[in-house]
Amino acid sequence: MDGELLLAAVLGVPRARLLTLDDVGDDAAARFEALVEQRADRVPLQHLTGRAPFRFLELAVGPGVFVPRPETEQLVGWALDGLAGSSAPVVVDLGAGSGAIALSLAHEYPAARVTAVERDPGAIEWTRHNAAARAAAGDPAVEVLSGDMTDPGLLRELDGTVDLVVSNPPYVPDGARVPREVADHDPPLALWGGPDGLDVVRGLLVTAARLLRPGGRLGIEHADQQGSALPAVVRAHGAFDEVADHPDLAGRPRFTTARRR
Ligand SMILES: C[S@@+](CC[C@H](N)C(=O)[O-])C[C@H]1O[C@@H](n2cnc3c(N)ncnc32)[C@H](O)[C@@H]1O
Repeated sequence: MDGELLLAAVLGVPRARLLTLDDVGDDAAARFEALVEQRADRVPLQHLTGRAPFRFLELAVGPGVFVPRPETEQLVGWALDGLAGSSAPVVVDLGAGSGAIALSLAHEYPAARVTAVERDPGAIEWTRHNAAARAAAGDPAVEVLSGDMTDPGLLRELDGTVDLVVSNPPYVPDGARVPREVADHDPPLALWGGPDGLDVVRGLLVTAARLLRPGGRLGIEHADQQGSALPAVVRAHGAFDEVADHPDLAGRPRFTTARRR
């Protein structure tokens, strides 16, 4: 699969077109071979093609930004189900990275007013780049804000007015073993979440409780080992009810949702 996608990227054709090709020129073959070597050295496929598919979008990615994962598509699906029927919902994505969540929500629910918050100065360049590309393609503008999701002063003007806070925060416990593609190529700020992986989440909950209106919804992605721990932390915070956990398509615990009391 990776080989086919790399060859398709070298030739600038969709993967299915490879079936119809009789031959590959020497230049393209040499470029393909170089990419295969890099992939064999565990450079992520998406860094080599420069693109990452996510729901209905294809986002630009590369060194400095977290590669969006298919698991996160379901969190967006849950978010869209909750927005259905609301006229101009206010949405905040905390830790936007490539903009996968924020830009998908704006694309699939154009009535939403979406703000994307990102702290990493390298990553936010990708958020801005992708947001500008989607706006140029006709999607509603997404506001991209440089900020820390645990900052008590973040987005104060939205206090108590937000309909949906959604986040795929850094949640990998410090010291956990991760594949080389992740350890060597995803930015550290996108991964590590303290001893139990939930340090950033604890700060995020304080921000979400402040921003959300009563009845507003919260959705947070987590690691497969955090299917009990994250709901427990959300319950313990005290500002949320209807706390539930949801599996991904592989059946592993993947995201926690809750409602602002
Ligand atoms: C796991 S990545 C998710 C990126 C994107 N939302 C996605 O789903 O592909 C987490 C993102 O949160 C950002 N981040 C980490 N700590 C943050 C903080 N305290 N405030 C804002 N953003 C933060 C990281 O830089 C990274 O881009």
